[in-house]
Amino acid sequence: MPNTSPPGIPGLSQENQARVITECVRQQVRERRPAELPETGWKDFDRRFDEHFPRLTLLFAEVYGHREDFLEQLTELGLQLARSWAERPDDLKALDARREHDPAWFGSRQMLGGVCYVDRYAGNLRGIREQIPYFQELGLTYLHLMPLFEAPEGNSDGGYAVSSYRRVDPRLGTMEELAELSRELRRHGISLVLDFVFNHTSNEHEWARRAAAGETEYEDYYWIFPDRTVPEQFERTTREIFPDDHPGSFTRIRATEEDPRWVWSTFYSFQWDLNYTNPAVFRAMSAEMLFLAAQGVEVLRMDAVAFIWKQLGTACESLPQAHVLLRAYNALCRIAAPSVLFKSEAIVHPDEVARYIEPGQCQLSYNPLQMALTWEAMATREPKLLAQALEERHALPPGTAWVDYVRGHDDIGWTFSDEDAARLGVDGHDHRRFLNAFYTGRHPGSFADGVPFQENPRTGDCRVCGTTASLLGLAEDPGAAVDRILLAHSVAMSTGGVPLLYLGDEVGQLNDPAWAEDPAHAGDARWVHRPPRPVRDYERRHELFSVQGRIFGGIRRMVELRRSAPEFDGNALIPFDTRNPHVLGYQRPGGNTMILCLANFSDWSQFVTGETLSGFLPQGVELHGNTELDLRHGLLIDAHGFLWIRVVPKR
Ligand code: GLC
Ligand code: GLC
Repeated sequence: MPNTSPPGIPGLSQENQARVITECVRQQVRERRPAELPETGWKDFDRRFDEHFPRLTLLFAEVYGHREDFLEQLTELGLQLARSWAERPDDLKALDARREHDPAWFGSRQMLGGVCYVDRYAGNLRGIREQIPYFQELGLTYLHLMPLFEAPEGNSDGGYAVSSYRRVDPRLGTMEELAELSRELRRHGISLVLDFVFNHTSNEHEWARRAAAGETEYEDYYWIFPDRTVPEQFERTTREIFPDDHPGSFTRIRATEEDPRWVWSTFYSFQWDLNYTNPAVFRAMSAEMLFLAAQGVEVLRMDAVAFIWKQLGTACESLPQAHVLLRAYNALCRIAAPSVLFKSEAIVHPDEVARYIEPGQCQLSYNPLQMALTWEAMATREPKLLAQALEERHALPPGTAWVDYVRGHDDIGWTFSDEDAARLGVDGHDHRRFLNAFYTGRHPGSFADGVPFQENPRTGDCRVCGTTASLLGLAEDPGAAVDRILLAHSVAMSTGGVPLLYLGDEVGQLNDPAWAEDPAHAGDARWVHRPPRPVRDYERRHELFSVQGRIFGGIRRMVELRRSAPEFDGNALIPFDTRNPHVLGYQRPGGNTMILCLANFSDWSQFVTGETLSGFLPQGVELHGNTELDLRHGLLIDAHGFLWIRVVPKR
């Protein structure tokens, strides 16, 4: 185990040591920083350096403090920060200043996210630019473009096997175009979100090639072993993530050649996990991160955060050092690219998801529990697990926010807590089996048209793929499906945080029937829900009575209402017991009023009694129809319907 304090200076507290060390590094940085930037240009940098570098020092020491070259490594990091600041474009420095004065900007009810693959949605970066008018029509303020970097030909895990963080896949465009696109998006009020795939690189990244060629310096960038001995020890406790690709966590460096070495590859065999016990890796990736920040990226989606630290005898997921490294990355941004936010991608147990969310770590996080339990409620017609999650697991520290989504580009995994479920009389193991059967159409009476993913006969594990429309039965029964689709989105739009749409879902895009025809995708069922942009569906989005028009119109309306109601700002949520097992209830407080959200998951109309609503003054206003309601009479909610009612609590 590494020491937890930096070397030297006996008798000084950790904080004071950090201050002394900061002072040393600051002097070095002052002397050696780029001269191109005039002295006045360093003012903000120096202020932020003084504020955040001591924290960075402590974090860095937690992981690397035992090393003799600790101070050198830290000084190099300081110099990297200065270089990045010197290169940071002026418009981004102006943005930094604006965000510093409005740090809660991303919790605003104005926020709306969209995510897409550049090639599938628009061909290339130019095509994305041409979609800006549509993004504005939809109301986007946040656009996540899936990985668009140079990657191996054929299967590249949808770009998550990055061969260079500084080169855009030439089929999509160039880095200059990306930087220009980020400015263009910003001019239209849209923040660019990109992945920071920092757990692994592709096996074609220069570091990986040099490691494969036997250069020790680069072998030390990865977890490479001469034979199976150590891998076997690790695999006793690690989880298989892509068992269809390879069992365990390691693969051979070269599949065909006589090379006995094994390399850690949590995901695909061509994605090699970086070795963060080596500070050179942290520094190298810091440079890549700050380079991306300089292209105008405003949110970095921190990919696969749970896996970045490994330790023998553990599951090698969500270890304390993973958090330390994220905080250290965060501190770097606070100094040299302060407007950049992190979004955590931890699709793990809800206790673990929460540990990544804090202003000094990841300010944003996917909300995989709410996502999964929305689907759970759709299948069971009883939102009790979802209600429990909203009550017990929704609250977040100030300065952070959820990203609420109905589905993403990945599979749906049932990441709820077995203990939570047990308290409601639900057996987690059996329930997951039911949910998998339901969504892969193996359960009698299921409306879902989904596909299993990474079914593991050894462990019984399985996840689900499909577009929102297909999983909710649009092809079979459009009437009910449209309502279900809007109901699912109503949850993501109203619980608080940034709602995130998988672009195409807002016009009811169905599964891609041809997904398996591409040999590079055939082994990965997630491609069933990543079809190309549905041109025909988009053309019909203004036809009032078409399926597409009803979904698009319904979602647009929610976006507008959300924007118009100040109660939807921020994350505060108060549970509301509807005393009807099919109806989910929660309140969004704001000033003297609240929005009461009621969502009926059953296939029949449901009633919430006047007595249940008697804590409010009798008059309520439903936002959708702008209709006045007398709550004393109770409320009848249509099958798969939802109501957003402005109410005044009785004093
Ligand atoms: C993340 C991505 C997923 C990818 C994996 C490996 O989980 O969302 O698509 O397969 O990381 O990079
Ligand atoms: C696993 C990982 C998650 C990733 C997914 C990709 O569930 O925990 O991070 O997104 O695999 O399929």
